[in-house]
Amino acid sequence: MDVIRLGLGGFGTVGSGLAKILDSNKERIEKRLGKRLEITTVLVRDLNRKRAFELGPDVTFTDDLSALVNGDVDIVVELMGGLDTAKELILNAFSKGKHVVTANKHLLAEHGLELFDAARANNAGLMFEASCAGGIPIVQTLKESLAGDEIIKMLGIMNGTANYILSEMTTKGMDFASALADAQDLGYAEADPTFDIEGFDTAHKLCVLIRMAYGVDYPLADIPIQGITGVTPMDIEFAREFGYRIKLLAHVENVRGRLEAGVHPALVPYTYLLARVGGNYNAVRLEGNAVGPIMLHGQGAGDLPTGSAVLADIMNLVRKMNDGCSRPDNTGFGNDPIVKADIL
Ligand code: NDP
Ligand code: HSE
Repeated sequence: MDVIRLGLGGFGTVGSGLAKILDSNKERIEKRLGKRLEITTVLVRDLNRKRAFELGPDVTFTDDLSALVNGDVDIVVELMGGLDTAKELILNAFSKGKHVVTANKHLLAEHGLELFDAARANNAGLMFEASCAGGIPIVQTLKESLAGDEIIKMLGIMNGTANYILSEMTTKGMDFASALADAQDLGYAEADPTFDIEGFDTAHKLCVLIRMAYGVDYPLADIPIQGITGVTPMDIEFAREFGYRIKLLAHVENVRGRLEAGVHPALVPYTYLLARVGGNYNAVRLEGNAVGPIMLHGQGAGDLPTGSAVLADIMNLVRKMNDGCSRPDNTGFGNDPIVKADIL
């Protein structure tokens, strides 16, 4: 059976989650693809660190970025986070004619347009389902399932760490710092958790999803962002007494052709589905002009849910390669350059 060689940039929470699924679901994957997916090379910082999942003896671990892109690799999977090295890895991969899968919403929000241009110039695929809302297939939904709908609005919980903290504070009376420490232990938080609790990570995802939903760029700097660090136990208790839950929400709405977006904590009536989304779960409500409202709900962070989204992208790429597709469509908006959004 033909082998597709995967080069992983990063082998932390998500990288090891992907490796676990490749191992446990091997038969299903091979049956569906007619090809075997094998991790051949892994780029890390610390070659001596003990890993959450042990890879076979044939896998090469390296701390040299060029070894990953020059090595025996068909698809580069960027799962290290951060901006500079991740961007260098992806651009190098494109220049070597390799497709890329990434979970890095921060990089996509800041440099996505440049990366999409580079992918297009090199006829390469850049897939990023795991970058938004963990295991929820939100990117695929916007790109494929709702390809022909005008998206009127999108509203949701897009950060598992913040939702976990708010849920633990509400249901168990846990303090903010302990709930955050738990979320870090569970692998939900960013390397710098300020991104989670100050709303930046949610804004990164919103930025990526706006491109998918509307085909325009809503610059990160134009998104008003408020996180949850100012939410006190008393706020949570009062909200509860009046029949609300406090949730960190991202929203965007098409108001007569102009977009309005933002990220902030909000009081959500307990009768709404969004108020009942607990733990590391995310939920996104989309409204299309033809389909009407849709709600997607699932785990927004963690090794296996995120690994599942990364694997879906890899399998989609392999299917495209199998079909002889010369240039995967990265954003679903064809070849037109993505222009700046008309902002309300
Ligand atoms: P981790 O911190 O757990 O893992 C990061 C990995 O990348 C580590 O193996 C680290 O090496 C390696 N790494 C980091 N920087 C470098 C560098 N400069 N050179 C070489 N290797 C490097 O992160 P996660 O797995 O949690 O997240 C990875 C990506 O996935 C991020 O973009 C994150 O935003 C995104 N994501 C994470 C989710 C989650 O639930 N955790 C969910 C959705 C997306 P070493 O181990 O040696 O330090
Ligand atoms: N830190 C992110 C979160 C990971 O908690 O949602 C998933 O993108």
